[in-house]
Formats: sequence, C-alpha cells, structure tokens
Amino acid sequence: MEVVRDRAALAAARPRLPTPVGMLPTMGALHPGHRALLDRARAACASVVVSIFINPTQFGPGEDLARYPRDEAADLATCREAGVDLVFIPPVEEVYPPGASTFVDVGPLSERLEGAARPGHFRGVATVVTVLLSLVRPDVVFFGQKDGQQTIVIRRLVRDLGLGTEVRVVPTVREPDGLAMSSRNRFLSPAERAAAPILSRALQAAADAFHQAGERDAERLRSLMREVLASEPAGRPDYVSVADGDTLQELATVEGPALLSLAVRFPSARLIDCQPIG
Ligand code: PAF
Repeated sequence: MEVVRDRAALAAARPRLPTPVGMLPTMGALHPGHRALLDRARAACASVVVSIFINPTQFGPGEDLARYPRDEAADLATCREAGVDLVFIPPVEEVYPPGASTFVDVGPLSERLEGAARPGHFRGVATVVTVLLSLVRPDVVFFGQKDGQQTIVIRRLVRDLGLGTEVRVVPTVREPDGLAMSSRNRFLSPAERAAAPILSRALQAAADAFHQAGERDAERLRSLMREVLASEPAGRPDYVSVADGDTLQELATVEGPALLSLAVRFPSARLIDCQPIG
C-alpha cells in the first residue's frame, strides 16, 4: 500500500494503478461503515484509492472541525487490512492551494435539509469532492447511503460537470440496535448512546407505514417520525423530511422514489439518518 501526501506524488502513482480504479473519499476516523465501502470497492475494482482529508470548508463556524476525530495510524491499518492500494492524505494546501478561490455550488439541492441547518456545508462538500475526483480520476466512487443528501448532491455534480466517474451508493451499516455507524457516534455520552437508536426507529416506523400499510400521505409519514422522536426527550429533532429522491423537494404524496430523512441534536453530537423508499 502506497501513501502519498501531495498532488505530484499522487499524479506519479496514479498511472501505475490497474483499472478500473475505485475510490473512497473519507475524512478518516474509519469505522465498520467505511470498511463495508472498502470491501465493496475491493470486490468491484482492480485497484482502490482512499483519500483521508478533514475538509475545513464543509464545517460551519461553531461546528466540530477542531474536535473531529483524527487517528491516522488506525486508519492506515484499516486500509492495509482492506487491501487498499493507494492512500492520499493531503495537507490543506494540497487540496486548496494558497489563494484558491474556486467553489462548486450545486444550487437549491444543497440548500434544503442539511444545507438549511448547515449553511455552506454542501458547497464545501461539492468543492472538495470535485477537487479529489479531478486529482484521482477514479472510474467508480463509493459513498454511504447514510449521508443520503450528500449522495444526491454528488450524483448531480458529477453529472453536471461531466466528471466521468460512476457514483455507487452502498447501504448504511448499522449497530445491532439500529444506530447508523458514524464517526460522530463516539462523542455520545452513555445515556445519549442509549437514546440514539430513536433515529432509526423513527425512520423504520415511517418505512413500515409506507411498505406494509400502504401509507402514501407524506405529512402522515412525517408525523409518524415526529411522534417516535418525541418519545425520547434526550434528543431534539432538527427536521424530519419526506422528499423527492432526486430533487429533495418536500412531497405531499409519495408516488415515486423518495427519501425519508431526519436530524436529531443531542447535547454532545448532532446525528442524521435516512432511508430511501418507493
Ligand atoms: O462523507 C464524508 O466523509 C465527507 O463529506 C466527504 C465526502 C469525504 C467530503 O469531505
């Protein structure tokens, strides 16, 4: 496994990789959810590239950039174990050269839901993903379903900019009690950790109503999620959403692919989860 830290070394290593090249962009703190993505990439591609970069432009003021978990040695061990070929761990100036002034803005898609709660977040995500895909030029890039809006934003930017990479979305890996794996779970206190499966329970209640009871009224599905979340006072809901799976516009009736999503604020961390339906 080769580890490179600058654009020049990456450019030198890239032509040696057998194709198809699969890529997993990450911010490190790799957990079993990332491992599932790595295993998918390993099975589907002749070589696998991982980027580890905590992207400052996707964190707003007062968010958790400074305390975002960092453990390069553990991340490299995970990559080695998963059979990764190349790891790109750039410092900030290799991603954003001094004076960098170009940003990628995907438009209204990135202003809804997480974008409304975290202004500028998806501008940062879209920009860093565009830079990373331009530098690595993978044939396939892998993302986790947990960050559902992120996958929709990235599919759109890859299409709009003709980046020539296939975007594959891998199902969310969950703890046995349903909590979606996330680097931020480690911030939860024991009491918050015990309460956190409320997110997946709320999503499941709405998904069951959709699949088993044939509920198509989106407001009814939102109410179901709100009711389940209200049973857990430790977490304060930020939003619940039943939105079109492509435009993320809130729906009145679910008639095609849709995304159930929600965000809940605990005192120690803000968690998100989602589930596609339809
Ligand atoms: O999902 C993440 O870890 C990040 O948002 C990503 C896609 C690596 C961009 O920094």
